[in-house]
Amino acid sequence: MSQYVCKIEEVDENGKEIRLMAGPMPSYAMVFLHAGRIRAFLNVCPHQGRPLNWGPDQFLFSPERHLVCAQHGATFLLESGECISGPCRGARLRSLEVRLDDDSVWLDQELVQERV
Ligand code: FES
Repeated sequence: MSQYVCKIEEVDENGKEIRLMAGPMPSYAMVFLHAGRIRAFLNVCPHQGRPLNWGPDQFLFSPERHLVCAQHGATFLLESGECISGPCRGARLRSLEVRLDDDSVWLDQELVQERV
């Protein structure tokens, strides 16, 4: 079973937060257009488990376009989710599989449940 995320044209380099419909507790994904590809991760920082954004769909980026956690400044590669600086250096964001279907973006809900 998959979860509809949004239309492809709604995803941009500034990111979008998506509430996941899997599991008993609310959880959130973040979706970005990066280097011509759509990347998705759970919106959970490996440092203290907090969301990375500072407001709805509001994410911080370094000048090099790395994703920066708004809590304590951990910095992540959008290609892999690897933390390259900050308090959880070497840890990774949980990557989510994205499926494109015509003009829409989908997340595999079973995969999401496994990884939450
Ligand atoms: S919770 Fe993200 S850097 Fe601390």
